[in-house]
Amino acid sequence: MSKARAHTNIALIKYWGKADQALILPATSSISMTLAAFYTDTAVTFDAALTADTFTLDGKLQAPQAAARVTQFLDLVRQRAGIATFARVQSDNHVPTAAGLASSASAFAALALAASNAAGLELTPTELSRLARRGSGSASRSIFGNMVIWHRGTDDGSSFAEPLPINLKLDLRMIAVVVDDMPKSIGSRVGMQRTVATSPYFPAWVTANEAAASAMQQALTDGDMATVGALTERSAMMMHASTMAANPPFTYLQPVSLALFDYAAELRANGFQVYATADAGPNVKLLTTARDADRVLQQVQGKFNVKAVMSGPGPAARIID
Ligand code: PMV
Repeated sequence: MSKARAHTNIALIKYWGKADQALILPATSSISMTLAAFYTDTAVTFDAALTADTFTLDGKLQAPQAAARVTQFLDLVRQRAGIATFARVQSDNHVPTAAGLASSASAFAALALAASNAAGLELTPTELSRLARRGSGSASRSIFGNMVIWHRGTDDGSSFAEPLPINLKLDLRMIAVVVDDMPKSIGSRVGMQRTVATSPYFPAWVTANEAAASAMQQALTDGDMATVGALTERSAMMMHASTMAANPPFTYLQPVSLALFDYAAELRANGFQVYATADAGPNVKLLTTARDADRVLQQVQGKFNVKAVMSGPGPAARIID
């Protein structure tokens, strides 16, 4: 049995759209912060007595349909290890109740590490990142801690994540604001497909977001919080604009999500360093600094009747127990 822990991550420069569906090669590079407060623990046991894989999530045995994505992923590991044994997979999400952050990133990063370890594979962090990518693109980034870049690459070998050095002046915090904790109606896979296939803004998104990824690396090295924040908001807005221009158009944002972007601007006008971002759902994440985090959290909870949870940067995925 091998048990691994991987933390979730939130992208400052978003991944949206695939260049290759099967290999999960992204159309653009992305940059994220791994979060200390939210993680998944996954234990994998290959057992010759099993006649199929089993998948238990938060103590509940999952139906074969939900387990299919796990089995598909385990097939990659089995192929690589040259084994045919089925596995028992037990996963626990440690996300504060209804934080709306249940994430495939920490899930597939933990599964990649636990399953490859249990199968006797000794993968380098780069190999692990490439493997996790096959489960869910954003999982490639959760193999590493703190600030991470996922290079889009051009094939399976060149599309992986790695840690990004950042200026120590930047003492970053992320506040997850829960607007709605219901499952999203259009998952990221389908949403990306529709955007790539039909949005006239998609090519513009790719060009502009790739430029933003370069600019972000410079801003992180310089420790330039204003630029880091501005690029973060813009990458999110560009991503959401690309979905609004799809056919049929769709958006993950709700009125409250946009109100939170506005409120971040208002707080900035009052001297706080805080910037908003949002993923494939209405929840908003606020990027701020250790100096301002407590007060921003208080202000947001006071103004909106919402649950919010703060996190600092988290560590790389690792074997536990
Ligand atoms: O890893 P996926 O397929 O769930 O895609 C996640 C995409 C976003 O969360 C919207 C952006 C990102 O870069 O994490």
